Amino acid sequence: MTTRIGVLTAGGDAAGLNAAIRAVVRTAIGVHGFEVLGFRRGWRGVMDGDVIELTSASVQGILHRGGTILGSSGADPYREQGVERVRRTFADLGIDAVITIGGEGTMGAAAQMSAEGVPVVGIPKTIDNDLSGTDACIGFATAVQVATDAIDRLHTTAESHDRLMLVEVMGRSAGWIALFSGIAGGADTILIPERPFDLDEIASVLRRRHLTGHSFSIVVVAEGAMPAEGTMPAPEYPPDPRGDPRLGGIAYEIAPRIEALTGWETRVTVLGHVQRGGSPVAADRIVATRFGEAASELVAEGGFGQMVALQGDRIGQVRLAEAAKVRPVPEELVAVAELFFEERRRP
Ligand code: F6P
Repeated sequence: MTTRIGVLTAGGDAAGLNAAIRAVVRTAIGVHGFEVLGFRRGWRGVMDGDVIELTSASVQGILHRGGTILGSSGADPYREQGVERVRRTFADLGIDAVITIGGEGTMGAAAQMSAEGVPVVGIPKTIDNDLSGTDACIGFATAVQVATDAIDRLHTTAESHDRLMLVEVMGRSAGWIALFSGIAGGADTILIPERPFDLDEIASVLRRRHLTGHSFSIVVVAEGAMPAEGTMPAPEYPPDPRGDPRLGGIAYEIAPRIEALTGWETRVTVLGHVQRGGSPVAADRIVATRFGEAASELVAEGGFGQMVALQGDRIGQVRLAEAAKVRPVPEELVAVAELFFEERRRP
């Protein structure tokens, strides 16, 4: 009997998902002779039995395309008593294993399923780059490039008008995009979820910068950044369809306060979903291709309950439950960014 595997993309989309699907399919069919079914809209498709057959021909021409040919959703079988429906779909369709391409929520659900005996292998995807045990997640490199390009553009207009520019990027629980794009774009301060901020301190850093001859500043703010207790009210967010807070807009809370503290005109740009859209950069295409190949290999070896991972230059694996833990930005990278926050050498 031919082995039949399923593949799905779940959670927020990211550039490079199609490259991963293509690599899964080409390896599964071309190397192992498996059959591959694609579940539509993440776990929703598994619960509803909504599938399409994936062949080498159906994944032609998608390497460079953003989004996901399978669609995605935040559906989670554990939040809607769907585990039995997942089992039924697998039994009805004769699925021997499933490859889940997703972030923290997806890996969490996959870990639970694996503990209950469902044969699952994970592929890390999140522009937030905050899965544990891997040095890269699909979509991060593209998001950093989009944010860096935006910061470069904001630099020139900030300079023309002597303005303070707040650039809000994604990053729910960890500040990877903010930190990387902030370093690459030469940000004057970066606010990340790992370090609650105090606007008085930020205003004095910016004031000192302006005293050394600069007439504009760029501040990169991760959407998940939070004020230090007692400094300003914590933002409140409405729930998304999963019941999680729908982040976005903290920069609008900060802007009038920082303008009042510094006296400089302050403007806000929220990049939002533009960071997830469009063509993947080369680094995302390559890592997605390597992950897709490795995930199909892992299925062939029966290495279930694991997520493929980039570890240094090599592809390794990490237990799904471990992978689902948030990976914060490293302190030493924050220290590198901070070197450039103000003029340290006085004349
Ligand atoms: O998890 C990735 C992410 O991009 C977060 O940074 C962001 O909060 C979330 O997705 C937004 O997702 P959506 O708007 O699609 O619900």
